[in-house]
Amino acid sequence: MTIGPLQEAPDNPLVAGLERLPVHPTTLVIFGATGDLARRKLLPAIYNLAHEGALPERFNLIGSSRSDLPDAEYAKQAADAIRQFSRREPDETVLEELLSNVRYISGSFDDNTVYDRLREALDAFDEAAGQPLNRAFYLSTAPEFFPVIVGQLGEHGLTHHPGAEVRAVIEKPFGTTLAEARQLNRHVLSVFDEKQVFRIDHYLGKETVQNVLAFRFANGLFEPVWNRNYIDRVEITAAEDIGIGTRAGYYDNAGALRDLVQNHMLQLMCHVAMEPPVHFEADEIRDEKVKVLRSVIKPTPETVDDVAVRAQYGPGTVGGDTVPGYLQEEGVPPDSNTETYAALRLEIDNWRWAGVPFYLRTGKRLARKMTEIAITLKPVPHLAFQHDGSVGVRPNQLILTMQPNEGVSLSLGAKIPGSRMRIRPVNMEFLYGTSFMSQSPEAYERLILDAMRGDATLFTRNDEVEAQWEICDPIVTKWEATPGPLPQYEAGTHGPAEAERLLEGDAHWRAI
Ligand code: BG6
Repeated sequence: MTIGPLQEAPDNPLVAGLERLPVHPTTLVIFGATGDLARRKLLPAIYNLAHEGALPERFNLIGSSRSDLPDAEYAKQAADAIRQFSRREPDETVLEELLSNVRYISGSFDDNTVYDRLREALDAFDEAAGQPLNRAFYLSTAPEFFPVIVGQLGEHGLTHHPGAEVRAVIEKPFGTTLAEARQLNRHVLSVFDEKQVFRIDHYLGKETVQNVLAFRFANGLFEPVWNRNYIDRVEITAAEDIGIGTRAGYYDNAGALRDLVQNHMLQLMCHVAMEPPVHFEADEIRDEKVKVLRSVIKPTPETVDDVAVRAQYGPGTVGGDTVPGYLQEEGVPPDSNTETYAALRLEIDNWRWAGVPFYLRTGKRLARKMTEIAITLKPVPHLAFQHDGSVGVRPNQLILTMQPNEGVSLSLGAKIPGSRMRIRPVNMEFLYGTSFMSQSPEAYERLILDAMRGDATLFTRNDEVEAQWEICDPIVTKWEATPGPLPQYEAGTHGPAEAERLLEGDAHWRAI
Protein backbone atom coordinates (compact mmCIF):
# COMPACT_ATOMS: atom_id res chain seq x y z
CA MET A 1 0.00 0.00 0.00
CA THR A 2 1.29 3.48 -0.77
CA ILE A 3 -0.39 6.47 0.78
CA GLY A 4 0.75 10.02 0.20
CA PRO A 5 0.19 12.94 2.51
CA LEU A 6 -3.52 13.57 2.60
CA GLN A 7 -3.96 16.65 4.65
CA GLU A 8 -2.32 20.00 4.68
CA ALA A 9 1.23 19.43 5.97
CA PRO A 10 1.63 20.38 9.64
CA ASP A 11 4.12 23.14 8.81
CA ASN A 12 2.54 25.40 11.33
CA PRO A 13 4.30 24.61 14.61
CA LEU A 14 1.10 25.32 16.51
CA VAL A 15 -0.77 22.54 14.75
CA ALA A 16 -0.46 19.21 16.53
CA GLY A 17 0.43 16.21 14.42
CA LEU A 18 2.89 13.39 13.95
CA GLU A 19 5.84 14.42 11.90
CA ARG A 20 6.51 12.37 8.85
CA LEU A 21 9.87 11.01 9.85
CA PRO A 22 11.18 8.28 7.60
CA VAL A 23 10.05 4.82 8.69
CA HIS A 24 11.50 1.72 7.09
CA PRO A 25 8.96 -0.30 5.07
CA THR A 26 7.21 -2.57 7.53
CA THR A 27 4.79 -5.43 7.85
CA LEU A 28 2.84 -5.16 11.08
CA VAL A 29 1.33 -8.33 12.50
CA ILE A 30 -1.39 -7.98 15.13
CA PHE A 31 -2.02 -11.03 17.29
CA GLY A 32 -5.46 -10.72 18.84
CA ALA A 33 -6.59 -8.89 15.71
CA THR A 34 -10.33 -9.23 16.39
CA GLY A 35 -10.06 -8.29 20.09
CA ASP A 36 -11.31 -5.22 21.83
CA LEU A 37 -7.99 -3.38 21.94
CA ALA A 38 -7.31 -3.96 18.26
CA ARG A 39 -10.79 -2.75 17.30
CA ARG A 40 -10.99 0.24 19.61
CA LYS A 41 -7.42 1.49 19.59
CA LEU A 42 -4.91 -0.19 17.28
CA LEU A 43 -6.80 -0.22 13.99
CA PRO A 44 -8.10 3.34 14.40
CA ALA A 45 -4.55 4.45 15.31
CA ILE A 46 -3.16 2.79 12.18
CA TYR A 47 -5.86 4.45 10.13
CA ASN A 48 -5.01 7.88 11.55
CA LEU A 49 -1.34 7.34 10.79
CA ALA A 50 -2.31 6.49 7.22
CA HIS A 51 -4.54 9.56 7.09
CA GLU A 52 -1.64 11.80 8.11
CA GLY A 53 0.75 10.14 5.69
CA ALA A 54 2.88 9.04 8.65
CA LEU A 55 2.99 5.32 7.84
CA PRO A 56 5.98 3.99 5.96
CA GLU A 57 5.60 4.20 2.23
CA ARG A 58 5.28 0.45 2.08
CA PHE A 59 3.13 -0.80 4.88
CA ASN A 60 1.37 -4.15 5.16
CA LEU A 61 -0.98 -5.41 7.81
CA ILE A 62 -1.54 -8.98 8.90
CA GLY A 63 -4.15 -9.87 11.52
CA SER A 64 -4.19 -13.10 13.46
CA SER A 65 -6.80 -14.46 15.85
CA ARG A 66 -8.73 -17.57 16.60
CA SER A 67 -11.90 -16.75 14.59
CA ASP A 68 -11.98 -18.30 11.17
CA LEU A 69 -12.33 -15.46 8.66
CA PRO A 70 -11.36 -14.90 5.04
CA ASP A 71 -9.06 -11.91 4.41
CA ALA A 72 -11.91 -9.87 2.93
CA GLU A 73 -14.16 -10.42 5.93
CA TYR A 74 -11.39 -9.34 8.29
CA ALA A 75 -10.80 -6.22 6.15
CA LYS A 76 -14.52 -5.46 6.42
CA GLN A 77 -14.54 -5.89 10.21
CA ALA A 78 -11.42 -3.73 10.50
CA ALA A 79 -13.05 -1.00 8.40
CA ASP A 80 -16.16 -1.11 10.60
CA ALA A 81 -14.05 -0.82 13.74
CA ILE A 82 -12.20 2.16 12.28
CA ARG A 83 -15.44 3.87 11.30
CA GLN A 84 -16.78 3.32 14.80
CA PHE A 85 -13.75 4.26 16.89
CA SER A 86 -11.47 6.55 14.87
CA ARG A 87 -10.98 10.02 16.35
CA ARG A 88 -11.71 11.45 12.91
CA GLU A 89 -14.30 10.51 10.33
CA PRO A 90 -12.39 8.19 8.00
CA ASP A 91 -11.78 9.12 4.40
CA GLU A 92 -13.11 6.09 2.50
CA THR A 93 -10.35 6.23 -0.15
CA VAL A 94 -7.60 6.12 2.47
CA LEU A 95 -9.43 3.40 4.35
CA GLU A 96 -9.82 1.26 1.28
CA GLU A 97 -6.21 1.69 0.31
CA LEU A 98 -5.05 0.84 3.81
CA LEU A 99 -7.06 -2.36 3.96
CA SER A 100 -6.89 -3.44 0.32
CA ASN A 101 -4.04 -5.83 0.93
CA VAL A 102 -4.72 -7.02 4.46
CA ARG A 103 -4.02 -10.66 5.26
CA TYR A 104 -5.68 -12.60 8.03
CA ILE A 105 -4.37 -15.78 9.61
CA SER A 106 -6.72 -17.77 11.79
CA GLY A 107 -5.86 -20.36 14.39
CA SER A 108 -5.01 -20.74 18.02
CA PHE A 109 -1.74 -19.22 19.14
CA ASP A 110 -0.20 -22.56 20.06
CA ASP A 111 -0.89 -24.01 16.63
CA ASN A 112 2.35 -24.47 14.66
CA THR A 113 0.64 -24.03 11.33
CA VAL A 114 -0.33 -20.44 12.25
CA TYR A 115 3.34 -19.51 12.20
CA ASP A 116 4.04 -21.44 8.99
CA ARG A 117 1.22 -19.54 7.29
CA LEU A 118 2.44 -16.33 8.87
CA ARG A 119 5.92 -16.85 7.46
CA GLU A 120 4.45 -17.44 3.99
CA ALA A 121 2.45 -14.23 4.20
CA LEU A 122 5.45 -12.23 5.44
CA ASP A 123 7.67 -13.64 2.70
CA ALA A 124 5.06 -12.87 0.06
CA PHE A 125 5.00 -9.21 1.15
CA ASP A 126 8.81 -9.10 0.98
CA GLU A 127 8.74 -10.57 -2.47
CA ALA A 128 6.17 -8.08 -3.70
CA ALA A 129 8.33 -5.26 -2.29
CA GLY A 130 11.52 -6.72 -3.75
CA GLN A 131 13.30 -6.26 -0.41
CA PRO A 132 13.20 -7.64 3.13
CA LEU A 133 10.69 -5.58 5.06
CA ASN A 134 10.90 -4.84 8.76
CA ARG A 135 8.54 -6.95 10.83
CA ALA A 136 6.69 -5.79 13.91
CA PHE A 137 4.73 -8.34 15.94
CA TYR A 138 2.11 -6.69 18.13
CA LEU A 139 0.92 -8.96 20.96
CA SER A 140 -2.51 -7.64 21.76
CA THR A 141 -3.86 -10.89 23.21
CA ALA A 142 -4.78 -12.03 26.69
CA PRO A 143 -1.49 -12.09 28.67
CA GLU A 144 -1.42 -15.87 29.04
CA PHE A 145 -0.63 -16.05 25.31
CA PHE A 146 2.42 -13.77 25.46
CA PRO A 147 4.87 -16.59 26.29
CA VAL A 148 3.18 -18.93 23.82
CA ILE A 149 3.45 -16.50 20.89
CA VAL A 150 6.97 -15.41 21.75
CA GLY A 151 8.05 -19.06 22.01
CA GLN A 152 6.44 -19.93 18.68
CA LEU A 153 8.03 -16.96 16.93
CA GLY A 154 11.39 -18.16 18.27
CA GLU A 155 10.85 -21.76 17.21
CA HIS A 156 9.79 -20.71 13.73
CA GLY A 157 12.86 -18.53 13.24
CA LEU A 158 10.73 -15.40 12.98
CA THR A 159 12.61 -13.28 15.52
CA HIS A 160 15.37 -12.20 13.16
CA HIS A 161 15.25 -11.28 9.51
CA PRO A 162 18.48 -10.68 7.57
CA GLY A 163 18.60 -7.21 6.09
CA ALA A 164 15.70 -5.91 8.17
CA GLU A 165 14.60 -5.40 11.78
CA VAL A 166 12.16 -7.51 13.77
CA ARG A 167 10.37 -6.01 16.76
CA ALA A 168 7.93 -7.32 19.34
CA VAL A 169 5.40 -4.98 20.89
CA ILE A 170 3.95 -6.41 24.10
CA GLU A 171 0.77 -5.09 25.65
CA LYS A 172 0.09 -4.82 29.34
CA PRO A 173 -0.28 -6.40 31.83
CA PHE A 174 3.35 -7.49 31.90
CA GLY A 175 2.97 -10.18 34.55
CA THR A 176 0.57 -10.18 37.48
CA THR A 177 3.28 -10.45 40.14
CA LEU A 178 6.99 -9.69 40.38
CA ALA A 179 7.84 -13.36 39.91
CA GLU A 180 5.70 -13.61 36.79
CA ALA A 181 7.11 -10.41 35.31
CA ARG A 182 10.64 -11.73 35.86
CA GLN A 183 9.75 -15.03 34.28
CA LEU A 184 8.13 -13.34 31.29
CA ASN A 185 11.18 -11.11 30.85
CA ARG A 186 13.46 -14.14 30.93
CA HIS A 187 11.31 -15.88 28.39
CA VAL A 188 11.03 -12.91 26.03
CA LEU A 189 14.74 -12.16 26.29
CA SER A 190 15.69 -15.76 25.53
CA VAL A 191 14.18 -15.19 22.10
CA PHE A 192 14.50 -11.43 21.40
CA ASP A 193 17.17 -8.88 22.33
CA GLU A 194 15.98 -6.13 24.68
CA LYS A 195 16.46 -3.67 21.79
CA GLN A 196 13.75 -5.51 19.86
CA VAL A 197 11.19 -5.41 22.67
CA PHE A 198 8.62 -2.62 23.10
CA ARG A 199 6.56 -3.01 26.30
CA ILE A 200 3.47 -0.83 26.10
CA ASP A 201 2.30 1.57 28.76
CA HIS A 202 -0.07 3.71 26.74
CA TYR A 203 0.20 6.62 29.22
CA LEU A 204 3.71 7.23 27.90
CA GLY A 205 2.22 7.92 24.48
CA LYS A 206 -0.02 10.67 25.85
CA GLU A 207 1.07 14.16 24.85
CA THR A 208 0.29 15.52 28.29
CA VAL A 209 2.48 12.93 29.99
CA GLN A 210 5.39 13.78 27.72
CA ASN A 211 4.71 17.42 28.49
CA VAL A 212 5.61 16.82 32.14
CA LEU A 213 9.21 16.39 31.01
CA ALA A 214 8.99 19.38 28.65
CA PHE A 215 7.54 21.46 31.46
CA ARG A 216 10.29 20.48 33.88
CA PHE A 217 13.30 20.44 31.60
CA ALA A 218 12.51 23.18 29.08
CA ASN A 219 11.80 25.83 31.73
CA GLY A 220 14.39 27.07 34.17
CA LEU A 221 11.75 28.51 36.45
CA PHE A 222 10.71 25.38 38.29
CA GLU A 223 13.94 23.45 38.79
CA PRO A 224 15.13 25.48 41.84
CA VAL A 225 11.94 24.65 43.76
CA TRP A 226 11.56 21.09 42.47
CA ASN A 227 12.73 19.36 45.62
CA ARG A 228 12.09 18.60 49.27
CA ASN A 229 12.97 22.14 50.36
CA TYR A 230 9.99 23.69 48.59
CA ILE A 231 7.57 20.90 47.74
CA ASP A 232 5.27 19.75 50.50
CA ARG A 233 3.55 16.86 48.73
CA VAL A 234 2.71 15.41 45.34
CA GLU A 235 -0.74 14.00 44.64
CA ILE A 236 -1.39 11.92 41.54
CA THR A 237 -4.96 10.99 40.66
CA ALA A 238 -6.28 8.76 37.89
CA ALA A 239 -10.02 8.81 38.45
CA GLU A 240 -12.51 7.17 36.11
CA ASP A 241 -16.27 7.42 36.01
CA ILE A 242 -16.67 4.21 34.04
CA GLY A 243 -17.14 0.83 35.68
CA ILE A 244 -15.64 -2.39 34.38
CA GLY A 245 -18.01 -2.78 31.44
CA THR A 246 -17.63 -6.23 29.92
CA ARG A 247 -14.12 -6.76 31.31
CA ALA A 248 -15.03 -8.67 34.49
CA GLY A 249 -12.98 -11.68 33.41
CA TYR A 250 -9.81 -9.61 33.25
CA TYR A 251 -10.55 -7.02 35.90
CA ASP A 252 -11.62 -9.33 38.70
CA ASN A 253 -8.21 -11.02 38.54
CA ALA A 254 -6.37 -7.72 38.26
CA GLY A 255 -7.90 -5.00 40.46
CA ALA A 256 -7.04 -1.32 40.53
CA LEU A 257 -3.48 -1.72 41.81
CA ARG A 258 -2.36 -3.99 38.97
CA ASP A 259 -4.53 -2.31 36.37
CA LEU A 260 -3.39 1.28 36.85
CA VAL A 261 -0.98 1.83 39.72
CA GLN A 262 1.74 -0.69 38.82
CA ASN A 263 2.13 0.88 35.40
CA HIS A 264 0.51 4.21 34.50
CA MET A 265 0.60 5.84 37.93
CA LEU A 266 4.16 4.85 38.76
CA GLN A 267 5.18 6.20 35.38
CA LEU A 268 3.53 9.53 36.17
CA MET A 269 5.38 9.57 39.48
CA CYS A 270 8.69 8.89 37.70
CA HIS A 271 8.06 11.81 35.34
CA VAL A 272 7.65 14.14 38.31
CA ALA A 273 10.55 12.77 40.29
CA MET A 274 13.31 11.79 37.83
CA GLU A 275 16.55 13.69 37.39
CA PRO A 276 17.12 15.42 34.04
CA PRO A 277 18.60 12.96 31.53
CA VAL A 278 21.71 14.01 29.65
CA HIS A 279 19.98 13.39 26.33
CA PHE A 280 16.38 12.70 25.45
CA GLU A 281 17.20 9.14 24.52
CA ALA A 282 15.55 5.86 25.39
CA ASP A 283 18.11 4.37 27.72
CA GLU A 284 19.07 7.61 29.41
CA ILE A 285 15.46 8.41 30.24
CA ARG A 286 14.77 4.90 31.37
CA ASP A 287 17.92 4.85 33.53
CA GLU A 288 16.61 7.91 35.37
CA LYS A 289 13.16 6.41 35.85
CA VAL A 290 14.62 3.17 37.18
CA LYS A 291 16.64 5.19 39.72
CA VAL A 292 13.43 6.76 41.01
CA LEU A 293 11.67 3.41 41.28
CA ARG A 294 14.62 1.90 43.11
CA SER A 295 14.62 4.77 45.60
CA VAL A 296 11.02 4.19 46.63
CA ILE A 297 10.75 2.75 50.13
CA LYS A 298 9.20 -0.64 49.47
CA PRO A 299 6.09 -1.53 51.45
CA THR A 300 6.52 -4.57 53.69
CA PRO A 301 3.84 -6.89 55.11
CA GLU A 302 4.03 -4.77 58.29
CA THR A 303 3.66 -1.39 56.56
CA VAL A 304 1.13 -2.18 53.82
CA ASP A 305 -1.84 -1.16 55.98
CA ASP A 306 -0.18 2.17 56.79
CA VAL A 307 0.67 3.08 53.22
CA ALA A 308 -2.12 1.55 51.12
CA VAL A 309 -5.91 1.64 51.11
CA ARG A 310 -8.23 -0.41 48.90
CA ALA A 311 -11.98 -0.28 48.39
CA GLN A 312 -14.78 -1.41 46.11
CA TYR A 313 -17.62 0.61 44.57
CA GLY A 314 -21.14 0.01 45.66
CA PRO A 315 -24.26 1.07 43.74
CA GLY A 316 -24.74 4.77 43.10
CA THR A 317 -25.37 7.45 40.50
CA VAL A 318 -22.87 8.51 37.86
CA GLY A 319 -23.68 11.32 35.46
CA GLY A 320 -27.35 11.09 36.38
CA ASP A 321 -27.56 7.32 35.74
CA THR A 322 -28.12 4.75 38.44
CA VAL A 323 -25.34 2.18 38.26
CA PRO A 324 -24.83 -1.17 39.98
CA GLY A 325 -22.12 -1.86 42.53
CA TYR A 326 -19.04 -3.88 41.59
CA LEU A 327 -20.43 -7.07 43.09
CA GLN A 328 -23.54 -6.76 40.96
CA GLU A 329 -21.60 -6.30 37.70
CA GLU A 330 -22.01 -9.08 35.16
CA GLY A 331 -19.34 -11.75 35.53
CA VAL A 332 -18.12 -10.62 38.97
CA PRO A 333 -18.35 -13.29 41.70
CA PRO A 334 -20.73 -12.01 44.41
CA ASP A 335 -18.05 -12.49 47.08
CA SER A 336 -15.21 -10.90 45.11
CA ASN A 337 -12.57 -9.04 47.09
CA THR A 338 -11.04 -7.32 44.09
CA GLU A 339 -10.34 -3.65 44.72
CA THR A 340 -11.73 -1.08 42.29
CA TYR A 341 -10.01 1.75 44.17
CA ALA A 342 -6.44 1.92 45.44
CA ALA A 343 -4.60 4.73 47.19
CA LEU A 344 -0.95 4.73 48.25
CA ARG A 345 1.47 6.92 50.13
CA LEU A 346 4.98 6.42 48.80
CA GLU A 347 8.28 7.98 49.73
CA ILE A 348 11.20 8.38 47.38
CA ASP A 349 14.19 8.13 49.61
CA ASN A 350 16.81 10.13 47.73
CA TRP A 351 18.56 13.48 48.00
CA ARG A 352 15.87 15.41 46.11
CA TRP A 353 12.73 13.88 47.58
CA ALA A 354 13.39 12.40 51.05
CA GLY A 355 10.43 13.15 53.32
CA VAL A 356 8.05 14.34 50.57
CA PRO A 357 4.95 12.13 50.42
CA PHE A 358 3.81 11.02 46.98
CA TYR A 359 0.10 10.19 47.16
CA LEU A 360 -1.32 8.05 44.36
CA ARG A 361 -4.97 7.14 43.94
CA THR A 362 -7.08 5.58 41.26
CA GLY A 363 -10.59 4.20 41.07
CA LYS A 364 -13.41 3.14 38.83
CA ARG A 365 -16.88 4.69 39.13
CA LEU A 366 -15.68 7.87 40.78
CA ALA A 367 -17.38 11.20 40.26
CA ARG A 368 -15.68 11.93 36.92
CA LYS A 369 -12.83 11.07 34.60
CA MET A 370 -9.79 13.05 35.64
CA THR A 371 -6.05 12.39 35.57
CA GLU A 372 -3.83 14.99 37.19
CA ILE A 373 -0.65 15.59 39.08
CA ALA A 374 -1.01 18.17 41.85
CA ILE A 375 2.16 19.56 43.37
CA THR A 376 1.67 21.53 46.56
CA LEU A 377 4.45 23.85 47.65
CA LYS A 378 5.31 24.59 51.24
CA PRO A 379 3.62 27.62 52.82
CA VAL A 380 5.50 30.89 52.95
CA PRO A 381 7.58 31.11 56.16
CA HIS A 382 6.02 34.36 57.36
CA LEU A 383 2.85 36.24 56.51
CA ALA A 384 3.29 39.98 56.88
CA PHE A 385 -0.38 40.84 56.38
CA GLN A 386 -1.83 38.56 58.98
CA HIS A 387 -4.03 41.19 60.59
CA ASP A 388 -5.51 42.48 57.40
CA GLY A 389 -7.13 39.25 56.37
CA SER A 390 -4.91 36.54 55.06
CA VAL A 391 -7.65 33.94 55.27
CA GLY A 392 -7.37 33.28 51.56
CA VAL A 393 -3.62 32.66 51.56
CA ARG A 394 -2.85 29.11 50.53
CA PRO A 395 0.36 27.40 49.52
CA ASN A 396 0.99 27.55 45.77
CA GLN A 397 -0.27 24.58 43.88
CA LEU A 398 0.80 23.48 40.44
CA ILE A 399 -1.68 21.23 38.65
CA LEU A 400 -0.64 19.29 35.58
CA THR A 401 -3.86 17.99 34.05
CA MET A 402 -3.37 14.96 31.83
CA GLN A 403 -7.07 14.63 30.88
CA PRO A 404 -9.63 16.04 30.26
CA ASN A 405 -9.07 19.85 29.94
CA GLU A 406 -5.41 19.12 29.29
CA GLY A 407 -3.20 21.86 30.59
CA VAL A 408 -1.21 23.35 33.43
CA SER A 409 -2.46 25.62 36.15
CA LEU A 410 -0.59 27.44 38.89
CA SER A 411 -2.40 28.88 41.87
CA LEU A 412 -1.05 32.14 43.25
CA GLY A 413 -2.12 34.38 46.09
CA ALA A 414 -3.26 37.77 44.74
CA LYS A 415 -4.48 40.94 46.36
CA ILE A 416 -8.20 41.51 46.15
CA PRO A 417 -8.62 45.06 44.72
CA GLY A 418 -9.55 47.55 47.43
CA SER A 419 -8.11 49.56 50.26
CA ARG A 420 -7.27 46.57 52.42
CA MET A 421 -4.52 43.98 51.96
CA ARG A 422 -6.70 40.97 51.45
CA ILE A 423 -5.43 37.95 49.56
CA ARG A 424 -7.15 35.25 47.64
CA PRO A 425 -5.90 32.44 45.36
CA VAL A 426 -6.12 32.95 41.60
CA ASN A 427 -5.03 30.64 38.79
CA MET A 428 -2.61 31.10 35.93
CA GLU A 429 -3.61 28.66 33.24
CA PHE A 430 -2.23 27.10 30.10
CA LEU A 431 -4.70 25.00 28.10
CA TYR A 432 -3.64 22.78 25.21
CA GLY A 433 -6.94 23.37 23.48
CA THR A 434 -6.35 27.11 23.15
CA SER A 435 -2.57 27.15 22.66
CA PHE A 436 -2.32 24.47 19.99
CA MET A 437 -4.75 24.40 17.18
CA SER A 438 -5.72 20.81 16.64
CA GLN A 439 -6.57 17.59 18.34
CA SER A 440 -3.54 15.72 19.68
CA PRO A 441 -2.79 12.32 18.22
CA GLU A 442 -3.97 9.36 20.30
CA ALA A 443 -1.33 7.67 22.43
CA TYR A 444 -1.44 4.52 20.32
CA GLU A 445 -0.68 6.44 17.13
CA ARG A 446 2.57 7.70 18.55
CA LEU A 447 3.44 4.35 20.10
CA ILE A 448 2.82 2.25 16.99
CA LEU A 449 4.85 4.69 14.94
CA ASP A 450 7.72 4.74 17.45
CA ALA A 451 7.80 0.94 17.64
CA MET A 452 8.06 0.80 13.86
CA ARG A 453 10.81 3.43 13.97
CA GLY A 454 12.63 1.45 16.64
CA ASP A 455 12.51 4.28 19.17
CA ALA A 456 11.98 2.78 22.63
CA THR A 457 11.88 6.06 24.60
CA LEU A 458 8.17 5.73 25.32
CA PHE A 459 8.28 2.04 26.20
CA THR A 460 9.10 0.28 29.45
CA ARG A 461 12.45 -1.51 29.78
CA ASN A 462 12.81 -4.92 31.44
CA ASP A 463 14.43 -3.63 34.64
CA GLU A 464 11.89 -0.80 34.81
CA VAL A 465 8.87 -3.08 34.73
CA GLU A 466 10.45 -5.26 37.42
CA ALA A 467 11.23 -2.22 39.57
CA GLN A 468 7.56 -1.21 39.28
CA TRP A 469 6.54 -4.65 40.44
CA GLU A 470 8.94 -4.51 43.38
CA ILE A 471 6.85 -1.65 44.75
CA CYS A 472 3.43 -3.23 44.13
CA ASP A 473 4.16 -6.89 44.79
CA PRO A 474 4.21 -6.66 48.61
CA ILE A 475 0.85 -4.88 48.53
CA VAL A 476 -0.70 -7.41 46.16
CA THR A 477 0.59 -10.26 48.34
CA LYS A 478 -0.70 -8.76 51.56
CA TRP A 479 -4.11 -7.93 50.08
CA GLU A 480 -4.50 -11.41 48.67
CA ALA A 481 -3.62 -12.90 52.03
CA THR A 482 -6.14 -10.72 53.88
CA PRO A 483 -9.46 -11.03 52.13
CA GLY A 484 -12.20 -8.49 52.80
CA PRO A 485 -14.83 -7.45 53.17
CA LEU A 486 -13.41 -4.33 51.58
CA PRO A 487 -14.48 -0.81 52.46
CA GLN A 488 -17.16 0.35 50.03
CA TYR A 489 -17.64 3.71 48.34
CA GLU A 490 -20.77 4.86 46.62
CA ALA A 491 -20.43 4.97 42.83
CA GLY A 492 -20.21 8.55 41.57
CA THR A 493 -18.44 9.90 44.65
CA HIS A 494 -14.84 10.85 45.51
CA GLY A 495 -13.94 7.42 46.85
CA PRO A 496 -13.76 5.87 50.31
CA ALA A 497 -13.36 7.93 53.47
CA GLU A 498 -10.64 5.43 54.53
CA ALA A 499 -8.24 7.00 51.99
CA GLU A 500 -8.01 10.14 54.16
CA ARG A 501 -5.94 8.28 56.74
CA LEU A 502 -2.98 8.09 54.34
CA LEU A 503 -2.56 11.85 54.30
CA GLU A 504 -0.13 13.54 56.62
CA GLY A 505 -0.70 16.75 58.55
CA ASP A 506 -3.78 18.73 57.60
CA ALA A 507 -3.74 17.68 53.94
CA HIS A 508 -6.91 16.45 52.21
CA TRP A 509 -7.32 14.76 48.85
CA ARG A 510 -8.29 17.16 46.11
CA ALA A 511 -11.88 17.00 44.94
CA ILE A 512 -12.52 14.76 41.94
C1 BG6 B 1 -6.02 0.79 30.92
C2 BG6 B 1 -6.79 0.06 31.98
O1 BG6 B 1 -4.66 0.46 30.95
O2 BG6 B 1 -6.16 2.19 31.14
C3 BG6 B 1 -8.25 0.46 31.99
O3 BG6 B 1 -6.69 -1.35 31.75
C4 BG6 B 1 -8.36 1.97 32.11
O4 BG6 B 1 -8.94 -0.16 33.05
C5 BG6 B 1 -7.49 2.64 31.06
O5 BG6 B 1 -9.72 2.31 31.92
C6 BG6 B 1 -7.47 4.15 31.28
O6 BG6 B 1 -6.82 4.74 30.20
P1 BG6 B 1 -7.15 6.22 29.75
O7 BG6 B 1 -6.25 6.47 28.59
O8 BG6 B 1 -8.62 6.23 29.41
O9 BG6 B 1 -6.86 7.07 30.94
